[in-house]
Amino acid sequence: KAIYLKDYQAPDYWIDQTNLTFDLYEDHTMVTSVLSIYRNLDNKSGKQGEDNLPELVLVGDDLELISVEIDDKPFSDFKVEGGFLKILSLKESFTLKTVCRINPQENTSLEGLYKSNGMFCTQCEAEGFRKITYYLDRPDVMSRFTTRITADKTAYPVLLSNGNDIERGELDDGRHYVTWEDPFKKPSYLFALVAGDLQHVEDHFTTMSGREVTLRIFTEAHNIDQCDHAMISLKKSMKWDEEVYGREYDLDIFMIVAVDHFNMGAMENKGLNIFNSACVLASPETATDARFQRVEAIVAHEYFHNWSGNRVTCRDWFQLSLKEGFTVFRDSEFSADMNSRGVKRIEDVNVLRTAQFAEDAGPMAHPIRPESFIEISNFYTVTIYEKGAEVVRMIHGILGAEAFRKGSDLYFERHDGQAVTCEDFVKAMEDASGRDLTQFRRWYSQAGTPVLNITDEYNEDKKQYKLTIEQSCPATPGQKEKEPFHIPVRLGLLDAEGDELVLNESGATDQVLDVKQEKEVFAFDNIEERPLPSILRSFSAPVRVKYDYSREDLLFLMEHDSDHFNRWDAGQRLANSVIDEMVAAFEQGRELSVDRSLIEAFGTVINDESLDLAVKAEMLSLPSEASLAEQAVEVYPQFIHQARQQVKKAIAEAHKDSLEALWQSLNVHKPYRPEAEDIAERTLKNTCLSYLTSIEDKAMLALAEQQYHGASNMTDRFAALVSVINAGNHDRELIDEVLADFLELYHQDTNVMDQWLSVQAASPSLGTLEHILTLMQHEVFDETSPNKLRSVLGGFAGNMKQFHRTDGLGYEFLTDQLLDLDKKNPQIASRLMTPLTRWRKFEPGCRERMRKALERIKATPGLSSDVYEVVTKSL
Ligand code: ARG
Ligand code: ZN
Repeated sequence: KAIYLKDYQAPDYWIDQTNLTFDLYEDHTMVTSVLSIYRNLDNKSGKQGEDNLPELVLVGDDLELISVEIDDKPFSDFKVEGGFLKILSLKESFTLKTVCRINPQENTSLEGLYKSNGMFCTQCEAEGFRKITYYLDRPDVMSRFTTRITADKTAYPVLLSNGNDIERGELDDGRHYVTWEDPFKKPSYLFALVAGDLQHVEDHFTTMSGREVTLRIFTEAHNIDQCDHAMISLKKSMKWDEEVYGREYDLDIFMIVAVDHFNMGAMENKGLNIFNSACVLASPETATDARFQRVEAIVAHEYFHNWSGNRVTCRDWFQLSLKEGFTVFRDSEFSADMNSRGVKRIEDVNVLRTAQFAEDAGPMAHPIRPESFIEISNFYTVTIYEKGAEVVRMIHGILGAEAFRKGSDLYFERHDGQAVTCEDFVKAMEDASGRDLTQFRRWYSQAGTPVLNITDEYNEDKKQYKLTIEQSCPATPGQKEKEPFHIPVRLGLLDAEGDELVLNESGATDQVLDVKQEKEVFAFDNIEERPLPSILRSFSAPVRVKYDYSREDLLFLMEHDSDHFNRWDAGQRLANSVIDEMVAAFEQGRELSVDRSLIEAFGTVINDESLDLAVKAEMLSLPSEASLAEQAVEVYPQFIHQARQQVKKAIAEAHKDSLEALWQSLNVHKPYRPEAEDIAERTLKNTCLSYLTSIEDKAMLALAEQQYHGASNMTDRFAALVSVINAGNHDRELIDEVLADFLELYHQDTNVMDQWLSVQAASPSLGTLEHILTLMQHEVFDETSPNKLRSVLGGFAGNMKQFHRTDGLGYEFLTDQLLDLDKKNPQIASRLMTPLTRWRKFEPGCRERMRKALERIKATPGLSSDVYEVVTKSL
C-alpha cells in the first residue's frame, strides 16, 4: 500500500521520555518500554476516541506483547490489530509501559535488533524500531532516551547504547547491566544497541570550544589492528566539520562499532555509529586504496550526520534527501579536501552517470523528494543520495561558498532539535543569501535527467559567438510534462591555440550561464575567431549535454581544456563514440577495427610527462561497461563487452612499450601510505598492468605474476590478481594458482574474501553460472551475509557477458536466488533485483527474457513489500 507526501499529518501524541530495558538472552529478548506520552495540542485532526481524545496508535512488527500498564496500573483497554497497538481511553498525558518479547536470534532481515557473529546489534533506520517495541516509529517524534541493557557478562562484556553511560553493575546468574542516557532528543530511527565480546581502540579529540571527547572503535578481537585508519579519518572529519561548517561534536563520547552482517554501509545512530565492517576496517595488508578511501568517506559521512541528520532531522521519510543529499555533499567535499579534488569529482560523476542516470531513466525513477512510496527501504537510492548531493552542490555554486555557509548556519540555528523538510533547507539558503530559488526548487519535485541540446553559431562580421541551449526532460513515471529547471552551466571557450578566451570584464575565463528557459540564447561579443566550447565544466549540473563535437574537437579538448574534468570527459566521450560505433557494426554482423584517433589520443596521454599522475590514470580509464550500457540507446551486452575489450587491447598493443616502461617506473617499493600522491602512482601503475595483460602475451602475464608475489600491500596484490584473471583463459593454470594462493593467505579475513568472491563472479571468463554455483558452496560463502551476497550475486549481475547469456539462464538463476532471499532479507533481495528492472533498455532477446524473469517474481505469492514495489513498478 502506497503512502503519500500530501497526506502528511503531525502525530496526535508526542513522547517526551523513552526509558527502555533490554534483557538479552540466547533464545529471546525482553523489551520493557516506559514512555511519557502527552497530547499534541496543535493537532485537532486525529480520530477522536470516547473521551474526546484521539486514540493512540503505536506501531509494532512481529512483537509478542506481554503486558500493558498505564500510570503504573495494569491496563486492558487496548486492541492489537494489523501491527498496531491501539490505546483507547486516554488522558492528556500519561505513562505507558509495555513489555514485549522478541527473537533477535532468528531475525534474518537485519532490521531492528538482530545477531551478527554472536553479537547483538541494531539497525533502526528507517522503520526498524517497530521490530523492537511498540512506538511512534516516525522521525518527527523526538524523545529523550535512556537504555538499560542486561546480559550474560562472559558472552557480552560490552553493552552499548546512545549517549553517556551513567550506571553499571553486577546481577545474579553471571549477568550484568549498563544504563545509557542520551541527553539529546532523537527519533527512534537513531536508536542503537550493541552487546558483544568486543575490543576497542581509543583516542581523544578536543573540540574547538575545548570539550574533551573520547573516541572508541569497537570490533571483534581479531580485527583490532584494522581500526587505525578509521580513527584517523574520524579525527579529520571532526576537525573539518568545525573548520568548514562551524559544527562541533556534542557528547562526551563517540563510538563506532564494526559488524559483519549489515544491509547497508553504515548508520549514524546518535553517538554510536554502527558500520558494516567492510566500511570501517582497513590495513595496508588487507585493504585496497579504494577501501581506504571508502572508509574515510563513510566515517566522515556518518559523523557529519550528527548535525545534518541528528541535531536537525527529517520530518518524514519523503524528506530523506534533506539529510542524505546534504551529508553526501558534505562528505564529498571533505574527501576532495583530504585527497585529490579532481579525482573525487570524476569518481562522483561516474557513479551519478552510470547508476543514477540509469535509475532516472528506469521504472523506479523518482524526484529527490518522492511523492509516494510503498516501502521506504527502496528509496535509499542513488537519486536521494547522489543526485540529492548534486542539487545541494548546485545551491553551493549558485550562492557561492560564503553565502552557502551563512545559509547552513541559519539552517542549523533555526532548526536545531527539530524534524524539518527540504523546503526548510532551501528557505534558509534563500533567507541567508537573498537569492531567489523559486524555480530551482523544481529539482526537488521533478524526476528525470534533464537534457541540454546545445548548438552554436559564429558571426564573422559581428565577431559574435552565440550558444543556443534548449532544455528538456524525459517523462518519468507519474510525470509526463516537466517545467524548465534552473540549470547552472559552467562554460569556457577555447581558441584555435587552445587558449582560454576572456568572457567578461573581470577577466574570467569561465562563466556560469543560468539556464532557466526552455530555450535560451547566450551571445558573446568581441570574439575574434570561432571558438570551441567547453560545456558544463566540473559537471556543474546533473544533466546530459548533447553538443555535436567532432572527434577532432574531442581530441583538442583532451589536450587543451584547462578544466580537468572536461578534459577527462572529452576522452570519455571519444571512447564512447568509438565503442558505440563498433557495437553498431557488430550488431549488423560487421567487424570494425578500432579508430586510430582514439588509440593515438590515449598514446598522447600515456606519454604526456606534464600530466598529473592521478589525472593521467583517470584519463586512461575506459568507460565501464555499465556506463556504456547507460549511454546506449539499446543495450547489446555481448557486443559492449566485446567492443570495449577490443579497444583496450588495441590501445595496449599500440603502446605496449610505453605502458611497460611506465609500469616499470612506478613499480617501486615504498612503505604504504593511503595518501593522494601514492594512490595516484599505484592507480596509474595498475592501470598500465591492466592494459598490458589484456594482450595475450606470456611476458605481460609474467609482470602481473611478479607484481602479485612481490606486492607489499593489498592494492598492488589485488590489482595483480584482477589482471591475471581478466587476462582470460589463456592461462587458466596461473589463474587457479593465484586464486588458491590468495585464498590461503587471506581466508580468515571475511572482507578480503568478499573481494576474492566478487572478482571471480564479475569476471567475463571465470564468472560462469557453473562457477557461481561453486562459489556459493564454498566455505567462505555465507548466505546470511549481505556482503557475501552482494559480492557473488551482485558481481554476477554486473557481469555483462555471463549474466546476459543468451539462453536466459543467468536471469533464471538470479530470480531463484531472489525469491529465496526475499523470505529472509527483503531489503537485500529488492536491491539485487535492480539489474533486471532495466529490461526495457536491452536488445529484444534479453529484454524478453528479463521481462519473463520479472513476471515470475511478480506471480509469486507472499512477496515482501520491498520486492513487490520494485517488481510491480518495473513491469
Ligand atoms: N542513514 C544511513 C546512511 O546514510 C543509511 C541507512 C540505510 N538504512 C536502510 N534501511 N536502508 O549512512
Ligand atoms: Zn547518510
